[in-house]
Amino acid sequence: MNKLITFEGVDGCGKSTQLRRAAAYLRDQGCDVVTTFEPGDTSLGKEIRRLLLAGEFVPVAEAELLLFLADRAQHVHEVIQPALASGAWVLCDRYSDSTLAYQLAARKLGDAGTNPCNEILNGMLSFAECGVSPGLTLWFDVAVDEAMRRMQQRVKAGEKSTRLDDEAVSFHERVAAAFVEQFSLQPERIARIDAGVDMDAVAQQVEAVLKQRFEALA
Ligand SMILES: Nc1ncnc2c1ncn2[C@@H]1O[C@H](COP(=O)(O)OP(=O)(O)O)[C@@H](O)[C@H]1O
Ligand SMILES: [Mg+2]
Repeated sequence: MNKLITFEGVDGCGKSTQLRRAAAYLRDQGCDVVTTFEPGDTSLGKEIRRLLLAGEFVPVAEAELLLFLADRAQHVHEVIQPALASGAWVLCDRYSDSTLAYQLAARKLGDAGTNPCNEILNGMLSFAECGVSPGLTLWFDVAVDEAMRRMQQRVKAGEKSTRLDDEAVSFHERVAAAFVEQFSLQPERIARIDAGVDMDAVAQQVEAVLKQRFEALA
């Protein structure tokens, strides 16, 4: 199976924390692991990330989508594809499911604002992946109020929030609902992780899913 694993869920669900732990677990098993994230893990992507998230610009929804997709195409060609070709596992913090949840569903970008999953938009998501879809997606499912509480702690600890973090609660609720919907549509690719429990308990679920999905780890 394709060794690209994407980490998805609302801001504050624990993706970055669990990505670090999953990388450590896989390395302990002797795996070669590349960790990466979107947007912004190429030189061009860094610039795109700043344009998107620093808050200096507020792109219209269509422009926001296209910038995220531009970042992805660059990222796939420069980082993900070469790493997979070298035989490495690639753990990626956010990928197309986030674009679907944030830039399409939460922004209500679609037919008459009601159907973000129309064919053209899905075709655009697929185009930007340049043929590289995840073998497995871990979806960290947590209540939005708990995720927001964690985000606030992170900000208190000195981390700067992004333009998207600062959206209204209703926006984050639409993001969360989109992940629920994606999971119901693609349960073979997406594994649901209960992210409302403590970090060790979340990490144990992740390891169990990895062992179950990848023969090499069983
Ligand atoms: N299971 C957990 N329980 C409580 N706090 C957590 C848990 N997982 C992560 N955190 C904390 O919540 C904050 C957000 O976690 P982070 O991994 O940065 O989330 P994300 O990358 O999804 O935005 C961090 O301060 C992190 O230490
Ligand atoms: Mg993160």
